[in-house]
Amino acid sequence: MDEVIAFSKRRGFVYPGSEIYGGMAGIYDFGPYGVELLNNIKRSWWETNVHSREDYVGIDSSIFRDPRVWDASGHTKGFSDPLVECKKCNARLRVDKELAKVGVTADEKMSEADLNALWDEHKAKIACPSCGAHDYTPVRAFNLLVKSNLGDFTSRGDNPVYLPGEACQGIYLNFKNVVDTTRMKVPFGIAQIGKAFRNEISPRNFLFRTREFEQADTQFFVKPHENKEAYDRIKAERYAWYKSLGISDENLRWKQHDNLVFYASDAWDIEYNFPTYGFDEVEGVHDRTDYDLTQHMNHSGTDLRYTDPQTGEKYIPWILETSMGVGRVFLAVLSEAYTKDELDGEERVVLRLAPELAPVKAAVFPLLRNKPELVAKAREVFTMLKTHARVEWDDNGNIGKRYRRQDEIGTPYCITIDFDTLGEGGDEVKDTVTVRDRDTGEQKRVKIAELTAMLA
Ligand code: GAP
Repeated sequence: MDEVIAFSKRRGFVYPGSEIYGGMAGIYDFGPYGVELLNNIKRSWWETNVHSREDYVGIDSSIFRDPRVWDASGHTKGFSDPLVECKKCNARLRVDKELAKVGVTADEKMSEADLNALWDEHKAKIACPSCGAHDYTPVRAFNLLVKSNLGDFTSRGDNPVYLPGEACQGIYLNFKNVVDTTRMKVPFGIAQIGKAFRNEISPRNFLFRTREFEQADTQFFVKPHENKEAYDRIKAERYAWYKSLGISDENLRWKQHDNLVFYASDAWDIEYNFPTYGFDEVEGVHDRTDYDLTQHMNHSGTDLRYTDPQTGEKYIPWILETSMGVGRVFLAVLSEAYTKDELDGEERVVLRLAPELAPVKAAVFPLLRNKPELVAKAREVFTMLKTHARVEWDDNGNIGKRYRRQDEIGTPYCITIDFDTLGEGGDEVKDTVTVRDRDTGEQKRVKIAELTAMLA
């Protein structure tokens, strides 16, 4: 993983946030190739979950939401991590994580008093990772919601507007709007890609646990108790999507939740086998019953029941959720694709990305940069292709070096314009180019007129 992280920085995929000021814990920026890969992942997700389906629509809700949303969702009270502070160096430790290191499981539902008792029993075995001391404050629940001062012109901070702790609440807030303004009928789904913010106590593992991240969510609304068939369908489709990104079965698995939150009827995670970190969650698929809409109906006073157009029956739909961390999937895709192999007797790094995800689809090279006829012809080809796909121009260094640069960022094709293109090798090869394949290194001659179809 260290190698993947260093690669991400070196080739402009991911940079530490605010790096020139020393960086910020758990905050990252996507660079020029990173944003292309990120957008391609999101596009694939959107096409699969929205465009290819008649029973799903997308929305894009705002970051700022009425503060009561987070009371209704349970986040203001229950969305917390148990924490102790080292009395010697003030380092903050996650109690459940530290206990796990000495083989003790802290149940998510434990009260603060029970957690304190468990911690007191085992803390002698736990040395502060920063300074080695064993002296801690009592366990306290630390709320993960990030506050803003939107509209607080008194600066008293007594009525904070929170940033979203999870993106999906924006979908519940718009359920009634979608029903009232579209022709969607239960069962149907709403999809959204949105930002979430969490005051993670110990952000860690690069993009895996950050304080700002994107979630791609679908919420599928069904008639109460008619959840089973849809849940099975959704699970199968989500797994298939990861396979379509080029992720292998051996690095992908399902894990059922042992401890369900009180309202959930079933919950599974899709886990990816990250290098160094091992298997960990990239997406949750949750059967949330009628909890969310009931909560929002009670807290807002707005009737969120659905009326069956055929029978007139009124009910609060049950919700089947898929919630994916876009950054985690980005890291999974990058880890899966990052490969070192040998080609033509030379070691190389190659990103074996599915072409659909590659930041650059083709690179165009004039064989020599000091031959104006070659450069002009190559420019013509480049200009023609750039309206169809993301292509890159490179006339710097020998062809071998240019191939290596493109292999590293996962470009499926390199297109070279040479003297044969200009007709110097005879009419047969005139207006053809060399197309070189990223994975095999094989080269073939293709007519310029056929290039766009090939890229498509
Ligand atoms: N609406 C349900 C929900 O938010 P979650 O399991 O807390 O459920 C869903 O989050 C997904 O969001 C996770 O599977 C993970 O991929 C991603 N995620 C959660 N916390 C994250 C963090 N701190 N950094 C990056 N991704 C995170």
